[in-house]
Amino acid sequence: MSTHEHTRTAWEDASQKHVREYAEHLEMARTARLLPIEEQVIGPLLPGAEVLHPQSGHGLDDHALLRLGATSVHGLDYSPTAVGAAQRRADELGVPCRYQVAELPTTGLEGEVADVVYTGKGALIWMADLGAWAREMHRLLRPGGHLFVLEAHPLVPLWAWDADEARVRGDRSYFAASHVNDSFPARGATEHQRTLAETVMTVRGAGFELLHLAEHPEPFWQPDDEEAAAWDGRLPNTFSLLARRR
Ligand SMILES: C[S@@+](CC[C@H](N)C(=O)[O-])C[C@H]1O[C@@H](n2cnc3c(N)ncnc32)[C@H](O)[C@@H]1O
Repeated sequence: MSTHEHTRTAWEDASQKHVREYAEHLEMARTARLLPIEEQVIGPLLPGAEVLHPQSGHGLDDHALLRLGATSVHGLDYSPTAVGAAQRRADELGVPCRYQVAELPTTGLEGEVADVVYTGKGALIWMADLGAWAREMHRLLRPGGHLFVLEAHPLVPLWAWDADEARVRGDRSYFAASHVNDSFPARGATEHQRTLAETVMTVRGAGFELLHLAEHPEPFWQPDDEEAAAWDGRLPNTFSLLARRR
C-alpha cells in the first residue's frame, strides 16, 4: 500500500468515531463555538458569507460558523464516513451545511464560489503539495474573499508529552519533510511538515495578501488524560492565519 493509500485508510478508520459518537456530536453541534482567537479574527467576516470548509472532518465547527452569521457551509473531505455523518447531522438539525466527498487538493468545483475558506485543526498536514491546495483555494474564492486557517504550530511534532518538563523529541526535526503520526486519531498516517515561513510564503505565492499571522500557546486538541508540560503556556502550539484573495 502506498503512503497516500495508507493515510487515507487511517482517516477512513478514524472517521468511524463520528458514527460511533453521532449522538454526542449532535448535542455538541447545538452549542458549538469556535475558539476565541478564531471568533476574533474570522468572526467579523462571517455574516452573510458562503463558506467552504476543505478537510471538514467531523464538521462540528460548521455549526459554529453558521451561528456567527455564515449563510451556508460546504464541507469537503475524502472520507465518505466523515461526510455521511456530518450530512446526517446537518439534515437532522435542518441547517444549511452540505458535505461532499472530494480528494484535495482537487475539488472539481466551479471557481469563485465562496466568500470564506475556513479550515485547520489538523488539515494542512495531509497535503503533500500545499502550493496546489492554496492555488485551488484561491480559485474557489471570490475576488476579495478570505482564507482563514487555525492550525497546529509546525513545532508541535517535536514536543514530547512528558508531564514534568517540556522536551524535544529526538526522532523529529523541524526541517523534516514528513513523519508518521503515532498518536490518536490518525495513527499511522503520514503528516507532511513545513516550517511556518514555508506555509506563509506558499499562501502568498498562491496569490493571497497576508492580513494576520499569530502564534498561540494553547493546543487546539489534546488527548484525554494527558497533561504535557509543552502545553503550559511557554511554547507555541497553534498558529492563526488570515489572508485575502488578491
Ligand atoms: C483532523 S481532521 C479534520 C479537521 C477538521 N477541522 C475537524 O476538526 O474535524 C482531518 C480531515 O482531513 C481529511 N483529509 C485528509 N487528507 C485529505 C485529502 N487529501 N482530501 C480530503 N480530505 C482529506 C480527513 O479525512 C479528516 O477528516
